[in-house]
This record gives sequence, C-alpha cells and structure tokens, in this order.
Amino acid sequence: MSEKIFIGVAWPYANGSLHLGHIAGCYLPADIFARYNRMKGNDVLMVSGSDEHGTPITVTAEKENTTPQAIVDRYNREHTENMKQLGISFDLFTRTTTENHEKVVQDIFLTLYKKGFIYKKELESYYCPNCKRFLPDRYIEGICPFCGNENARGDQCDECGKLLDPQQLLNVKCKICGITPILKNTEHLFFALSKFEEPLLEWLKEKNYWKPSVLKFTQNWLKDGLHDRAITRDINWGVPIPLDGFEDKRIYVWFDAVIGYLSASKEWAQKINEPDKWKEWWLNAEAKHYYFLAKDNIPFHSIIWPSILMGYDERLSLPYDIPANEYLRLGGEQFSKSKGLGIWVPEVIKKFNVESIRYYLSINMPEQKDTNWMWDEFVARNNDELVGTYGNLIHRVMTFTYNNFNEIPPLGELKKEDEDIIEKIENIHREVGENLEKCEFKKGLKKAMSLAHLGNVYFNNMQPWHLIKTDKNRCATVLHVCLKIVQALAISMAPYLPFSSDKIWHMLGNSDSIHNAKWEDALKPLNVGYKLGKPKPLFDKIAIEEVSGEMDTFSMLDLRSAKILSAENHPNADRLYVLEIDAGALGKRTLVAGLKNYYSIDELIGKNIVIVANLKPAKLRGVESKGMLLAAEDKEGNVVLLTPGDVKPGESITIEGIPSQPAKVLEFSDFQKISMTVDENQNIIYQGKPLRSSKGFVKTEKPISEGAEVH
Ligand code: MF3
Ligand code: ZN
Repeated sequence: MSEKIFIGVAWPYANGSLHLGHIAGCYLPADIFARYNRMKGNDVLMVSGSDEHGTPITVTAEKENTTPQAIVDRYNREHTENMKQLGISFDLFTRTTTENHEKVVQDIFLTLYKKGFIYKKELESYYCPNCKRFLPDRYIEGICPFCGNENARGDQCDECGKLLDPQQLLNVKCKICGITPILKNTEHLFFALSKFEEPLLEWLKEKNYWKPSVLKFTQNWLKDGLHDRAITRDINWGVPIPLDGFEDKRIYVWFDAVIGYLSASKEWAQKINEPDKWKEWWLNAEAKHYYFLAKDNIPFHSIIWPSILMGYDERLSLPYDIPANEYLRLGGEQFSKSKGLGIWVPEVIKKFNVESIRYYLSINMPEQKDTNWMWDEFVARNNDELVGTYGNLIHRVMTFTYNNFNEIPPLGELKKEDEDIIEKIENIHREVGENLEKCEFKKGLKKAMSLAHLGNVYFNNMQPWHLIKTDKNRCATVLHVCLKIVQALAISMAPYLPFSSDKIWHMLGNSDSIHNAKWEDALKPLNVGYKLGKPKPLFDKIAIEEVSGEMDTFSMLDLRSAKILSAENHPNADRLYVLEIDAGALGKRTLVAGLKNYYSIDELIGKNIVIVANLKPAKLRGVESKGMLLAAEDKEGNVVLLTPGDVKPGESITIEGIPSQPAKVLEFSDFQKISMTVDENQNIIYQGKPLRSSKGFVKTEKPISEGAEVH
C-alpha cells in the first residue's frame, strides 16, 4: 500500500556557502530516505528552501557592506545549484522571500492572533545608545547562563542548544560596537507557547520510537515549563506584521522559517497545477511527516512548530519522526564559518567525485554521536571500499561477461553455492530496506557493502576464468548469478549513490532510469540475451596528494607527549644521543637527538618531552630514529627542550582551532614547512596560536629568548 511521506529538511540560512557538516547533518540523510521511499512506491513530498530573513542575513549584509537582498540572492542561487550537484532530490527547494510564503505566514499569524495564541505585551529590549538601535538576536552576544559559553547569541546558545531570552544572557555586549547596551521598553507580540504544554506532552506520549537523544532533549525542554516567546523583532528585514502599529518590526525569523514547510508544500502544488494537492500530506491523518535537521534545530521542530500547527488548525499533520543527527566535525573541530573552518561544498565538489563524498558521509554519518571528517580516511574508504570492493565487483563482473558473452547469459542448473548466495542477495536486500525504513543509514550501507564483499568472494571461488575454458554453460550460470548480485546492489545502493546506480541499471539492459524502478526490482529476473555495452569503471582512486592540499600542514602532524626512559652516547657520532622513550599507547621507541652539547644524560632521564610521532623513520649514522623530539633554538645557538607539562606519555598535543588529521607517515620536507616559534611567555606559537596539552600550554623547559625557532 502506498503511503504519503512528507519530508521536511531544515532550511539553510542564505548567508554563506554550505559545508559538509550541513550535508551530513540533514540533506544527505533526507535524500537517502526520500529515494528509498519513492522506490518503495510511496508518495514522497520533500521540500526545503533558503532561510532568508532575520539577523543572520542582516548581520552578514552589514559585514559585507551590501544589502540583505544581494546576500540572499547570491546564496540561494549557490545552494540551489549545490543541492542539485550533490543529487539531493527535492520536489521543491524554494525560499522564504516568496510572496506565497509571506501570505501563508501572515495568515497563520493573524489566525493565531484572533484565537488568542498571539498577544501584545510590553517588553524590555536591549538598545544600544551608541548605535541608536534595538539589538535583536545576533546583534547581542553574552555568556550563556546554562553552559557558560561566552559567545552565546541573543536568541540561542549554539553550544548547549538552549533557546534564550536576551535577558537571560550574562555580560551582554552590542555586537556592532561592543558596548554594554541598555534595556528599553517596547511593545512586541508574543506566541503563547505555554498553552501548548499539555497537548505537546500528550502528543509526545506515543513517540517512544524517536531517537533517544531527540526525545530526551524535547522532554527536558518541556520539563522546564514552556514560556511564551516574543515572535516579533526590531528589524526591517523579514515578513511584515499584519497588524497596525508594528510597521517598524518584523516577524521573528524562526517563526517564519518553520512555516516554510507548509508554504512550500502549497507552492509545489500550485507549480504542478494541482493547487489542492498539498492537502494529501497535510490534511491526512495517515500521512507521515519526517523532519531532517541537525541537533541545534530540535526544539524548533519538536516543540515550536507543532505548537504553531496545533494552534492554527488542529487538523494539520504533526511531525511523525525527527531523526536529528549529531555533528560532523573536522579533525575534532567544529565547522565554523566565522573561524573559516570547514569543507565548503562549492569547492569540494569541484575536486572530488560527488559519490565519493556521499559514500564517505553516509558510512561516517553522525547518527548517534559526532563523527569526524578525516581526509586520510576519506581517501582510504574511497580507495579500499568504494573502488576496491564495490566498484571492483561491478567492473570485473561486467567486463568479464562483456568480453566472453557480450550479452546477459542464461541461468542453467543451480548448485548449492549458487543457491546460498542467491539467498544472501534476498536477505541482505531485505535487511538494507529494514535499515532504511528506520533511518539507520550507516547500517544499511554497511549491509549493502557486505553483499559487494560476498560477491567478490563468490566470483573468486567460482573462478569463471577457468570455467570459460572448461565448462561454458556453468560459466554462464555463475556470471548470471554475479549479475543478479550487481542488480541487487544497484537498487540497494540507489538511495546512497544515485548516479552510479543509474549507470549500472542501464548496463544491465534497462531503458528507464533506476529512479523509476521499484525497490523490489532488485530481485527481478535479468534481461537474458541483452547486449552489453563496453563497461567503464564507475569510480576512481584518490591519491593522498590530492587531499593533503586541503589541509593546513600542521594538521598532518602527530605531536605527542613522551617520557625519556634512558639515554646513551651514539656509537658513531659525537653530538648525538640515542634515547629510549615511552610514548604511552604508541609504545616505546628509539629516538636519535643532537642534544649532547646542551644536556647531560642525567638531565635527560625522566623528562617529559614533545615528539613528532609520525615522522618517517630515518637512520642517523646507523641508528634508526622513529620520530623526532621538539626543541627550541635561538640565534645564539642555545637549545632547550619543550615540555608538555605533567601529562601522561602518548597524549596528543594540538592547537585549538586547527583540525587534527595526522598523516600515517609524515615526510621530513612537510615537517620543515611548519614554522613554530617561542613567544615572550615561553609558549610555542604556530600561526598565532599556542600549542597545548590537556594540562595547558606547551612551554620551553628552560627560558630561551623570544623568537627562538622550534624544530
Ligand atoms: N536556518 C536554520 C539554521 O540554519 C534552520 C531553519 S529550519 C526551518 O539553523 F525549519 F526553520 F526552516
Ligand atoms: Zn552598539
């Protein structure tokens, strides 16, 4: 039976480029889910668009000295194009500055007002006497009263996810000029969120199938009690308020943005010339509404949006599930536009195959916990798994069949091993479907990959290259079974890797696109006798050099604390010691160091030092050194060791704000590109930032002159 599935995906602010955190957080999972449901024969309506109002846009415009309109036009165009390039299959990706959206928002606003869910109230608002303006949301910054984050904004703390009233912020500063603003009375409109506490609790009762993290977050929010919230702002960029006396204010961006889900559904229906069609999803108790978003957006979708819907028209569908993801990080650091830290979609899709990116983001999706984008892992998974396992199976099956039969060969009598693998095909395909049904995308992809692995094993064991000489009929049967695996994989992978799946689908003799195929077609009989075209490889290997340019060279370093266990004179060199060190989890190692003119053996033993643990091993006068210790040297030729403080050996030494993505082996020439110096506090500085351990800053072990170089 076909179901109505609505998929709403968080609307990205049109104030900057998308980064891979956005894609892993919500667009890719939503797309995988949509593609799967379409293949299952469900009626999917997937919408989103640019979030174009509010202070996120005006702050950016002011910073760039341009208009909000110019900003949103630029990024709406870019986002729309990027979504398409990434294969995110929206039915509609629109924007919140359309006339339709404004109309729908104002209608909801007025209806809620008439029903008494929106009311006027005086409010003390921050006002900057210096800038002579009120300071909504992102125009003020302060300390979050809940988690202590010092960069919390007027409406939300990004660190703990709490929504804030500006008055709750501590140590408030004007974002424009930095002075402490004053409070001034003005009239605003409030949404009576408190009235929805009971109905929300009732509605949540049956949501026991939600992700525990999402349910818990929502329940905690409700436990604190719901407070009415101001939904107007002193700003001139946004949806105008359809009431007299509020000409200088606009509707709060979050109140307007979530309504986008409904307004976009209506716009889509108008565009396909069936203006009432949106009702099949929204006025239908059987329809299931899924919302995909990253964790900082949870309360807007699990509390505020359902309240707006209930208050406006109790017949409208509420969210069925909100499978929010955690964050994708970059070598342990949070993606951040202001710090310039991220992997930006427009750039990364120019350099790498979109499916390599989709594959790594899917297999490394932050479903249960934060995950890290690691460039070397991206390369390894692409080369070993996507190319080495999956691409390899498809390619060897297709080329071998093409070279020897030229067409899809017939299936003869089956042997036990054939029946076994055919049963596996059916089971795995079913299990991938069960995972996708439950939004377990990572698991589903791993299952599908296990079939690719089994396919390779079957191909190897059957040895079709022998059979072709000894028993051509048997060879035909084996290849037919292999092609069944390929067909099942094309379908099972289609939600994840839509472009290559479509190519495989055509290779198998289907004239229609795989995106019109059914999930069950994975197991359908093959087109025996269909003439095969010359197969081409689907994916390419990535060389490690192609990604090293994406990183700060410092990221590639693996700096660790270590303890010197023993030291002795190098047998063949006057100035060198041979040291035994303990590097904790990395084990004990031998290092060769030129310290003889600066430290005695007794001084060295027991010292905590900093080493480069992944430097390519080098023989120094016949003794191999596995890594190198760091020391500072000044112009007068003084040399002192660095100390990580009183930490355990093997601890990572890092710089805050620089992702840690250690290379397996670091060339000495790469290490030489990194310039670290000692500052006046004896801290070790790289590009303006200090090296640190868990116990604080790394320092020189004895004072040395400022500007000394570390190597
Ligand atoms: N623009 C918001 C953000 O990037 C998300 C808005 S989701 C919507 O955090 F539902 F409100 F549109
Ligand atoms: Zn100011």
